[in-house]
Amino acid sequence: MPKASPRPRAAAPATRLSNFQYFLILTVISVLNVCFFLGLGFSPSHVRCSTDLVVQFVNLYLENNGATAIGDILPETCAKPAQKSSDEFERSIREIVARCLNITQRKIMKKLRERPLLTLFTTFADHIHTNTEKLFVHNNTLMNWARFKPHANVILFTNDSVWDDIAKQNGWETISISEQAERPPELREMFRLAYERFDTPWYGYANADILFTNQLIVTLEDLSDKGNFTEKSVLLTGRRTNIEKISLVNARSDGNLTKHARDYGTLYREDAEDYFIATKPFPWQRILPVVVGRPGYDNWLVAEARCKLHTDVVDVTETILAIHQTTEKGGNNEGHYHPRSTLNFDLFKQNKIKPNYLAGLTSCIPYFTYTDFCDVVSVEARSRDHFGPRCGCGVR
Ligand SMILES: *[C@@H]1O[C@H](CO)[C@@H](O)[C@H](O)[C@H]1NC(C)=O
Ligand SMILES: *[C@@H]1O[C@H](CO)[C@@H](O)[C@H](O)[C@H]1NC(C)=O
Ligand SMILES: *[C@@H]1O[C@H](CO)[C@@H](O)[C@H](O)[C@H]1NC(C)=O
Ligand SMILES: *[C@@H]1O[C@H](CO)[C@@H](O)[C@H](O)[C@H]1NC(C)=O
Ligand SMILES: *[C@@H]1O[C@H](CO)[C@@H](O)[C@H](O)[C@H]1NC(C)=O
Repeated sequence: MPKASPRPRAAAPATRLSNFQYFLILTVISVLNVCFFLGLGFSPSHVRCSTDLVVQFVNLYLENNGATAIGDILPETCAKPAQKSSDEFERSIREIVARCLNITQRKIMKKLRERPLLTLFTTFADHIHTNTEKLFVHNNTLMNWARFKPHANVILFTNDSVWDDIAKQNGWETISISEQAERPPELREMFRLAYERFDTPWYGYANADILFTNQLIVTLEDLSDKGNFTEKSVLLTGRRTNIEKISLVNARSDGNLTKHARDYGTLYREDAEDYFIATKPFPWQRILPVVVGRPGYDNWLVAEARCKLHTDVVDVTETILAIHQTTEKGGNNEGHYHPRSTLNFDLFKQNKIKPNYLAGLTSCIPYFTYTDFCDVVSVEARSRDHFGPRCGCGVR
């Protein structure tokens, strides 16, 4: 079992729906096409009252928007529900609708006093100006992230004058880093410099070949809205979706990216974590100076946050599409083929640390985000059954 860290404060208890209510609504929403039944001259009395049938008629009831009682809509073959159950069901629906309206109103009010939510940064570790595929990938990232302004500040860490110029042309800020030969920047140092440059509730590092859609901003907006979420130490990460044929993507269009990801994308392995977004209180000073762009640090960081820092770690795979631009060279294990690929492993060795990589898999992260019926991103704890012993924090 993972060490039980305190639950992230999700919605206030009063507005939380009971599991029963969720179950009911879920049952209802899961099937959307009911009308075809009637259109086909379907006669319910010849059919057994199956679960599918009930779900389909409940859906019809919902589409009627309260005009007919549930008991009157169900086919004859299904036993009529007791009055109490019908009343309870109706009450659940009214409650959820009221809650959604309330949230929508609050969101509209909040939009009026918006300020940047996130400072997002990366680094182009390599001084490559000749590999056109790499240029294309980096250009895509520059264009893609620039769209999140003014909701996000974007920073490129580089000491390369060519990339410095191109980034600025795309509306990015740049911070020059003193690079040592073949040694990419330290993760915690980039977070420190980003804190110095901007004041935002969230700070995020992502690898330079990752593209996002507006889901990134929506997720952070919705999470920021929940109690004191941004005042606590929280770390978000997730799995990436690999896409090929990147020459076909338009990195400026969410619709194009989403569709391309659906058509050509595959959700990559649960041990690859390509971005980390943390709230301001996350204790980066207690994190070893691991470097980005070399293997070993991602799962270690998640395990460290979960097991040692007792931070709430949230898997945001379901609500943030993180597209990895897979190229022939910039492949899936790129970090392993770089010079000095063992920098992080060496650091662990020097510090006599045997990382518990398994505890840092995305599937071992105790919380996850999902989109609720009000179209709001919410957080839920993973059920205990989800975790195998492999997710445990104990030393192996
Ligand atoms: C919305 O919910 C909040 C707290 O959950 C409550 O204080 C407020 O009165 C509600 N607003 C409306 C318009 O229902
Ligand atoms: C990347 O963008 C820069 C400037 O915006 C441009 O000069 C360069 O040709 C682009 N490279 C590719 C491969 O798209
Ligand atoms: C960037 O860092 C590299 C590696 O240390 C160095 O060779 C180069 O001169 C630096 N460039 C600038 C513009 O500071
Ligand atoms: C937020 O934190 C403050 C003080 O830290 C506390 O008084 C308040 O009850 C918290 N609010 C929620 C919704 O947890
Ligand atoms: C995305 O845009 C590119 C270039 O505009 C286009 O060639 C491609 O067909 C689009 N892909 C999708 C899935 O819409």
